[in-house]
Amino acid sequence: MIKKVIPFVHNKLKEIITTDDYVIDGTCGNGYDTLFLARQARKVYAFDIQELAIQNTEERMKRNKIHNVETILDSHENLDKYVDEDIKAALFNLGHLPGSDKRIVTQGPSTISAIKKIQERLVPGGMIALVVYVGKFGGKEESDDLLTYVHSLDFDQYHVIKYSYYNKDQGPYVICIEKQ
Ligand SMILES: C[S@@+](CC[C@H](N)C(=O)[O-])C[C@H]1O[C@@H](n2cnc3c(N)ncnc32)[C@H](O)[C@@H]1O
Repeated sequence: MIKKVIPFVHNKLKEIITTDDYVIDGTCGNGYDTLFLARQARKVYAFDIQELAIQNTEERMKRNKIHNVETILDSHENLDKYVDEDIKAALFNLGHLPGSDKRIVTQGPSTISAIKKIQERLVPGGMIALVVYVGKFGGKEESDDLLTYVHSLDFDQYHVIKYSYYNKDQGPYVICIEKQ
């Protein structure tokens, strides 16, 4: 069966994350991805720039009796202020907060800045995964920036894959960056 983008990316991350690992949710939103990561990892650092997203994520953790998540109301590009440990995996489910202002979206330059900071801490075999919504507000620009950046990564250091619907123009897609 062909997996949709979110199950695909969760499956890829589940293959590598263990309960010893520190991981990052770069865009915690309503907390669905944070909950998934928290169930695999030792600790999740969960970032969002919107207070509502942090509240929604904290409520979801409380309802599910999850205690290994640190929520951070700040842009993911400042993650080096909060994260000291080596990182096994990071997930960026990009775009806007579902059910909220569609114009408050992730943007290429800050997403790439966060990716670069995680690359400095990523362990060999670790992965940065991005879900990109090219058809949404600001999505085309962010997609172009991201594809240019990941294409520039040295193949000896990083393997990059793109998982997309070949017959759906502007459909969502996944980028996985695996450190060698
Ligand atoms: C598609 S939603 C995330 C969905 C979420 N992972 C979930 O499971 O519900 C994208 C989120 O990115 C957040 N965001 C936008 N720019 C950001 C930034 N620079 N740093 C952190 N979060 C950001 C938005 O506020 C929004 O909540």
